[in-house]
Amino acid sequence: MYRQLILFLYQLAKYMSLDQKGNIMAEYIWIDAHGATRSKSRTLKDQKWTPETLPTWNFDGSSTGQAPGENSDVYLKPVAVFADPIRLAPNILVLAECWDHDGTPNKFNYRHECAKLMEAHAVHEPWFGLEQEFTLLDLSDRPYGWPVNGFPAPQGEYYCGVGTGKVVQRDIIEAHYKACMYAGINISGTNAEVMPAQWEFQVGPCEGIAMGDHLWVARFLLYRISEEFGAKVSLHPKPIPGDWNGAGLHSNFSTKEMRVEGGMKHIESAIKKLEGRHQEHIAVYGEDNEKRLTGRHETGAIDTFTWGVANRGASIRIPREVGVKGYGYFEDRRPASNADPYRITGIIMETVFGSVEE
Ligand SMILES: *[C@@H]1O[C@H](CO)[C@@H](O)[C@H](O)[C@H]1NC(C)=O
Ligand SMILES: *[C@@H]1O[C@H](CO)[C@@H](O)[C@H](O)[C@H]1NC(C)=O
Repeated sequence: MYRQLILFLYQLAKYMSLDQKGNIMAEYIWIDAHGATRSKSRTLKDQKWTPETLPTWNFDGSSTGQAPGENSDVYLKPVAVFADPIRLAPNILVLAECWDHDGTPNKFNYRHECAKLMEAHAVHEPWFGLEQEFTLLDLSDRPYGWPVNGFPAPQGEYYCGVGTGKVVQRDIIEAHYKACMYAGINISGTNAEVMPAQWEFQVGPCEGIAMGDHLWVARFLLYRISEEFGAKVSLHPKPIPGDWNGAGLHSNFSTKEMRVEGGMKHIESAIKKLEGRHQEHIAVYGEDNEKRLTGRHETGAIDTFTWGVANRGASIRIPREVGVKGYGYFEDRRPASNADPYRITGIIMETVFGSVEE
């Protein structure tokens, strides 16, 4: 047994350290019709690549639900480059936008619209911070470590828990944290969450369109690393019905004006604007969110808009220290864990600063 394992590790190490002869592997990553990441690899010369110099590529959109069978080519336009923590330097990760053959953005390309809004309102220097909650599942879709015919002890011991019986698969969380740093993602922390097998990582601060880019690549790495450890990742906002916490994507937001003295009036004016468009926001804040936003388990109810200082049951929370200082940022607690960060950050910008002329 051990002999085989050592032999296997030796073989793997040997191949992984082979000389690439002046070439690199570029992993092109995109988002499919169902909000999952997809990726494929190609060989490029080893040089300094930027989104502008990287080649456009394509894939069969009929196999990902992104195009009809006839005319199924979808184009991949590189938009961001990250170091590759899986294959290590000089190999790279390339995040790409999806475009149709007629030169228009693909139906599921939410980045394009978001980038226009960020660019148009860039003078306000929008900063975001997103908290990605998720659940690790075993191969039979049970939360990892849950008993096969029953439930673990009720919630209470698991949030920021330490020790066997409190948390599972910390190896994945640690590997993912380091991998994000290596890639150049602004990951700012991790912790175990309220429901057993539920975890969270935070990405931010990121300015403008970089928020969505960083979060999507962090999600890609979470799926990719969990694959190596034999775990599944669920972004479902209510993976287990009943008295178990759901999963969200709490979104911190501030502008240049909100971050300086007197900022509270800009925070309040933004919240008023959000209030007027609550239903439109909920519509793009993730699928199955009604199962999570029940007004219980530290959430607001889905059909009402509320806000307050230090209130975890509100749609929008102003952190206590922001209330005291009178400037800073606010937290939109409505988005579900499976929401698209481009849609969240995009509609916040559009609501606060207005839409962009074509
Ligand atoms: C968002 O704000 C909360 C406080 O309201 C803070 O604890 C958290 O670290 C912030 N998260 C990110 C990703 O910026
Ligand atoms: C990452 O965070 C730093 C501050 O910690 C900030 O200066 C930088 O702009 C952020 N990167 C992006 C791409 O937003």
